[in-house]
Amino acid sequence: MSKFQLNEQLSLGVCYYPEQWPQHLWADDMRRMKEMDISVIRIAEFAWSVFEPLEGQFSFELFDNVLQLAKENDLKVIIGTPTATPPAWLTEKYPQVLNATIEGHLLQHGLRRHTNYTSTTYHQFCSIITTKLVEHYHTHPNVIGWQIDNEFNCEIGEFYSESDHIAFRQWVESRYVTLETLNEAWGTTFWSQTYSSWDQVYLPRLVPGGRQPNPHLALDEKRFISDSVLAFARIQADIIAELAPHHFITTNGLFGHLNSHQLTNELLDFFSYDSYPQFSTIFQDPNEENPLADRSWSQTLSAVRSISSKFCIMEQQAGPGGWVNKMDMPSPRPGQLRLWSYQSIAHGANMVVYFRWRTATFGQEIYWHGLNDYSNKPNRRLAEAAKVGHELQFISDVLAPTTYEANVAIMRDYNNEWDGEYDVWHGPYGWTSGKEWYKALTRKHIPTDIVYMEESTTLEKLQKYQLIIYPHPAIMSAATASLLEQYVELGGEIIFGCRTGYKDTRGHCYMLPFPGVASKLTGIELEEYTVVKGTRSAPSIKFIGNDNTMATQHFNEIIEPISDNVEILATYEDDYYAGKPALTRHAFGKGQAWYYGSVFSEQVANEILSLLPDVHSPASWLHLPTEVELAVRGNDSRRIYILLNYSEQPMSIQIDESKLNLLTNEAMVGKVELQGYDVLLLVEEK
Ligand code: GAL
Repeated sequence: MSKFQLNEQLSLGVCYYPEQWPQHLWADDMRRMKEMDISVIRIAEFAWSVFEPLEGQFSFELFDNVLQLAKENDLKVIIGTPTATPPAWLTEKYPQVLNATIEGHLLQHGLRRHTNYTSTTYHQFCSIITTKLVEHYHTHPNVIGWQIDNEFNCEIGEFYSESDHIAFRQWVESRYVTLETLNEAWGTTFWSQTYSSWDQVYLPRLVPGGRQPNPHLALDEKRFISDSVLAFARIQADIIAELAPHHFITTNGLFGHLNSHQLTNELLDFFSYDSYPQFSTIFQDPNEENPLADRSWSQTLSAVRSISSKFCIMEQQAGPGGWVNKMDMPSPRPGQLRLWSYQSIAHGANMVVYFRWRTATFGQEIYWHGLNDYSNKPNRRLAEAAKVGHELQFISDVLAPTTYEANVAIMRDYNNEWDGEYDVWHGPYGWTSGKEWYKALTRKHIPTDIVYMEESTTLEKLQKYQLIIYPHPAIMSAATASLLEQYVELGGEIIFGCRTGYKDTRGHCYMLPFPGVASKLTGIELEEYTVVKGTRSAPSIKFIGNDNTMATQHFNEIIEPISDNVEILATYEDDYYAGKPALTRHAFGKGQAWYYGSVFSEQVANEILSLLPDVHSPASWLHLPTEVELAVRGNDSRRIYILLNYSEQPMSIQIDESKLNLLTNEAMVGKVELQGYDVLLLVEEK
């Protein structure tokens, strides 16, 4: 049996929970799935108590019947290991498997994800259930792969059970080897925190003021959690790889305190993400100017693409979302379900699995709607998904082998994400600036990647991009600074914002003028800096070339050029630093390094882009309104331009060169109207 290759086709799937429905519905469900050109079902990820109703007693009958029907209906199957939902008998008898709050209170049975990753008892039970499942199903002809667990670190991403404290202590000891190194790394001479024995080391506990851990410990805590998830997942990945080498291994969800890149590189065939663009209505900051709403999911999908260039959407929103006690999301408007499916595909999803087939009639998620309503009557969401199913059949061969193409990248890294959760002097800025840059780029139709800076990042990887925006890398190692120098020296363009380069990977501040290790590359030092807060409003800056003025936000740094090759592009307008540089550009080798002493807004990003005329849309023959996103997927033979209209209104677009419409096989040229929420795929042969 050969392994299913994500690369080879576009597939549509659906999450199916037969254990929640009477058996007489199953055959009809699958018949209707097939009619919609759904070819994959994902099952069983919460069904531990079905498979092992009592300790050591296993039952496969229910899912054997389901798989038999899947075979008859020619549906491929992804099986989830059910380790996010241990049965009541397990947690009752072995409470050491439970997670605890920082106060030490155990989190109990009744929801999901209430276990820790470090209990050896839990490891054993997870290992047994995984082995039993893989042994039982590895020869089934319809099974193509496995999803390990479900959404690591969803629901909760902190772990304070006894076994976590013990495992952390061991982790710390193996990382630092001597107490002296540990004390130095965590700066424990400050406030007499010095450890004289490993037994004194714990994960954060309550201190005066509540949660105020030593910041260096807080950063190591995130690294430890990530390593714990990896060690936990590895147990299952190893079992699957050994018993079912012909099946793929994946896991779903993108959550905090987890290096998903490392997880994927070490354990998975590809990464899967759960895409619910309607969360944008819940997370929307009412004060945000010009928000991207559901289109902002493209930025997250780009982060997913940085993990796996081709990926699976294991859960694609299929209706309004809501739990009984939290979250109430509007229904996707007519056209949005299809639009969001193509949004995923445009960004690299070759498999899109809707969540879920039918809306649950009981449990926490009775308002998290699937394609079918409770009644099973035909509805517009089913019709839209069926349309996607039929279309994918038609375009699969052409689109599947292509990958997303971008010349611009927004850079992130785990050290700063994790350190910034605790450090309010840079943490919140990374998200804001990344989002504002993404808005500017997507509205100018410039496809953009998200790239993670890691120890393993190579120059070659960076050189794919003509422009990299690395908004606020407070933590920057000397090695990273030197890699970025090489990138710019050879012709790359890099843009930094405030709070760059002043911390090492332990989170200590360098005894250097800011921006620390980025000073050489940027050709600047900072005279001084301040948070902008209180009764004063943030000063404006003025661009020197055109006198355009715009507001700064959150933080101001006063820049002092230290190289002759630095050009001052904007100065502060007000306050005691009026007239001082706020934005500079340093000619460095064949490239340029930009430095902005504040947090980026879309307006500032746009102004900077206007100074970078070579950074533009890859399709000069295509004229699009800002409401329409342009994504490009290509390979050696062709390029597909994917147009996504996020507006409910029809949008007028102009196509100067005739191109084939991939969905209709018709040539398109001239003025074309793209209906509200509609998509258009234009093919360019090379
Ligand atoms: C995901 C989860 C699903 C379901 C869905 C809707 O996070 O993986 O099992 O809970 O959200 O809430």
